[in-house]
Amino acid sequence: MASLNILLAIFFLIPARCAAGNGVPRSCEDVLSHYSGTFFKEGVYTIDPDGAGGVGAFQVTCTTRDDLPGHGVTLVPHQGGIVPHSQYFKGPGAISRSAAFDYRLTEEQLESLTRISGKCRQFVRFSCFEASNFVLTPWWVSRQGWNMTNWGGAPTNSSKCACAMKNNCDRSYRKCNCQINDLVWRNDEGHLDDKRYLPVKKVHIRDLDDSNEEVYLMVKPMECYGALASGSPTEKCLCSLHAEAKGSTKAGPLLFQLPDLIYGQGYYDVWIDDGNQKRKVTDVYPQFFYTKIRRQILPSITVSPVTSPECTNVLQRCPVDCERLAKLTLATMRLTTNITNGGVQKPLGQVMCENVGVTIPPPGSRIVAFYKTAPACGSSGSSTHVFSDNPTICCNVFTLPFTNQAYNVFNEKCSPNMDISAIFG
Ligand SMILES: *[C@@H]1O[C@H](CO)[C@@H](O)[C@H](O)[C@H]1NC(C)=O
Ligand SMILES: *[C@@H]1O[C@H](CO)[C@@H](O)[C@H](O)[C@H]1NC(C)=O
Ligand SMILES: *[C@@H]1O[C@H](CO)[C@@H](O)[C@H](O)[C@H]1NC(C)=O
Repeated sequence: MASLNILLAIFFLIPARCAAGNGVPRSCEDVLSHYSGTFFKEGVYTIDPDGAGGVGAFQVTCTTRDDLPGHGVTLVPHQGGIVPHSQYFKGPGAISRSAAFDYRLTEEQLESLTRISGKCRQFVRFSCFEASNFVLTPWWVSRQGWNMTNWGGAPTNSSKCACAMKNNCDRSYRKCNCQINDLVWRNDEGHLDDKRYLPVKKVHIRDLDDSNEEVYLMVKPMECYGALASGSPTEKCLCSLHAEAKGSTKAGPLLFQLPDLIYGQGYYDVWIDDGNQKRKVTDVYPQFFYTKIRRQILPSITVSPVTSPECTNVLQRCPVDCERLAKLTLATMRLTTNITNGGVQKPLGQVMCENVGVTIPPPGSRIVAFYKTAPACGSSGSSTHVFSDNPTICCNVFTLPFTNQAYNVFNEKCSPNMDISAIFG
């Protein structure tokens, strides 16, 4: 009986410890909770924010912070280490310089951590003597390589530093102390805390052409903590197949409606809604998150500072997830494969032609997956791929005798072996 108890104890301990499902913690929050009640030591740990598969596991430093009680804080240091020194810049020399920061992780790894974390922040300090900064744009460059114009303690792209937010800049009409450009050491510092753009990849330092101009720059490691609350659905991804509109990047007539995807706040909170039933996407397609499509790189959707976190999530995920859904739903089929539609067995191509309702003469139209996000987030587009230039789908309209009703018939000869997997890869 004793051995059974031990087995049970192990059985119950493992799920609590291994949030990623593969035994690797997802973040330092998981590492800390593993040590709950026992001794936790700051150190290097391997984490895998998106769990098994997907982006590979990587090493970070786990620590705690006095101002973040109860949190396991994930530190992502750049080449300067976890306690970096300030970098010193002095004229004379090039008027414009920059400091680059290398985190030795891929953009996808950095994104996987910021995505599952409740919050990320990075402390930055700019100290200047007779060097005029924060005048020309950009001020710094985000992990994606985007130009950013704000400094620690001020909102994304606000063209402000922390002192402007607190109304205590050394000159009241300035937005940053280092815009003053006089013979006094001035200082701008604070946390950059918009996790969508962290960590800082590069900082621009300007006005260093004269010998008396000096700058000290401090960029600390990125710190991520907290978890996204799992929970109620927020935004929708609407996904459908269309016949490509000729000479246009817009979607042409509808061929096939796929169920809607609904995003919650956590990475794995994705539901599929076919109008009758709402189910977890992984209950329908267990391999959903590991399904590769041709385009694994997310399109660089420019999210503006006013985009809510919910919209950012759906804008970034919908294009890829729509193709995943199309692939998982249809990729085992040809246009001649029978499917059940309205209780009747029909070839998939026939179902599409009845939906399309127009003539598509040979050589036919390409089939594209088309996504649209919820109106509040306002983005749509088609994820067309250039694939073989063979005809794809052709439909003929016939007028039924007596009733004069138009009826669309799938032209099987036009694309008999058109394999849906050829489209979605
Ligand atoms: C960022 O700004 C620099 C300098 O103004 C410019 O050369 C570069 O093209 C910009 N990059 C992006 C991605 O907008
Ligand atoms: C910030 O503003 C610059 C131009 O001022 C723009 O290029 C950049 O895309 C903006 N960044 C974001 C995240 O909106
Ligand atoms: C598809 O269904 C129709 C109607 O039930 C049937 O006549 C036809 O033989 C089926 N085709 C295939 C390939 O199974």
